[in-house]
Amino acid sequence: MGDDSPTTPLSQEAFPVTERWIYLNNAGRAPLSRGAADALAEFGRESSRSGCLAFNDQMARVERTRELAAQLMGTSADEVAFIKNTTEGLAFVANGFPWEAGDRILIPSCEFPSTRLAFSGLASRGVDIDLVEPEGPGATLPIERFAAQLAAAPHPTMVVVSWVQFAQGWRTDLRDLASACHEVGAILCVNAIQGLGVLTAEFGAIGVDIAVADGHKWMLGPEGAGVLSITAEHLDRLVPTELGWNSVVPRGDWSGNGSLDPTARRFEGGSLNLAGIAGLGASLELLLGAGIDRIEHHVDRLCDQLVAGLTASGRAVISDRGRGRSPIVTFDPLHARPEDLCAGLRSHGVVTAPRATGVRLSPHAYVSADDIAAALEAIDRCDRPDPVLGGTRPALAEGLR
Ligand SMILES: Cc1ncc(COP(=O)(O)O)c(C=O)c1O
Repeated sequence: MGDDSPTTPLSQEAFPVTERWIYLNNAGRAPLSRGAADALAEFGRESSRSGCLAFNDQMARVERTRELAAQLMGTSADEVAFIKNTTEGLAFVANGFPWEAGDRILIPSCEFPSTRLAFSGLASRGVDIDLVEPEGPGATLPIERFAAQLAAAPHPTMVVVSWVQFAQGWRTDLRDLASACHEVGAILCVNAIQGLGVLTAEFGAIGVDIAVADGHKWMLGPEGAGVLSITAEHLDRLVPTELGWNSVVPRGDWSGNGSLDPTARRFEGGSLNLAGIAGLGASLELLLGAGIDRIEHHVDRLCDQLVAGLTASGRAVISDRGRGRSPIVTFDPLHARPEDLCAGLRSHGVVTAPRATGVRLSPHAYVSADDIAAALEAIDRCDRPDPVLGGTRPALAEGLR
């Protein structure tokens, strides 16, 4: 903790959270980088001093952040819109797509609630929501799990899936899934919040049609400043459901007769979260400056270290570490209930979260190998048999499954 190891791709100096915590909950809410916190503070200062006079500079920063987001996703800036959060991005897709009765959507059943809920209202319009069942305790979703439902007639119109599943961390091979979707004419819409910022993204090159993510996890930004990317090919198919003054060109034509913005900016109907986007921009500069390849590699090594330590102490890692390996490692404690273990770890300076049947660990690139060793020691100390009851946890855990 607080050890500014030069081996972390993101300097611990840039993350005040490391002064007090070994922070392993980036899949929940990541801490702001110092740069993002400064950008938010500066936004407040300049807006309080200058009001509308600061607007043009702030909009220039929005466009700079859009370019960074495009670079991060491997798309072009004109394919990127800022959104309030992942849920809003999914709602734009669900409510703006020209569905027809009889259309089918494939969605894994183990998804984070928003991924499914956003599309649930479409059933009343005759759209079939076809759930894809994951396999085993790790909720794995290899491409084969989609194959039969992709092949079945009528072919699905869209597949909606998280890049990385939030609980056990299965990482979908987007390249394979995109080509399987396109073979049957389906659009691939990805909830990217659990991957963007920590995994190399090449959405344009691999054929991801639409992706959405808020900034508050691996992108290390504040809540409420997220991104949607949509390829030019699909832009005109998705009707903007929040048309407003900021969807038309030229901006500042107050007659209301402007024409629809030819880019993804058309989805930004009204005033943007300028403060949040300024914060997001600062974190994206930091991430891209460090290099996403390097970040991904470092975090993968930390996860290997976690898996080695957990299995050596007899704990079951339920996350897949084969084809589906991701920055999320979820394990079943030996003795403690997951919530109790997370609380115990917090009192030892380690931040984690209970998910699935166990405890989810999600380190980012400001975490060092020493931090992971200390976290593993804390797990050993906290995951002990109850001194009074003894035994192991199954009876206690039953209610959680
Ligand atoms: C897969 C996934 N989607 C979405 C969210 C959050 O959605 P939003 O950005 O709308 O708050 C989370 C947060 O835990 C998540 O894990």
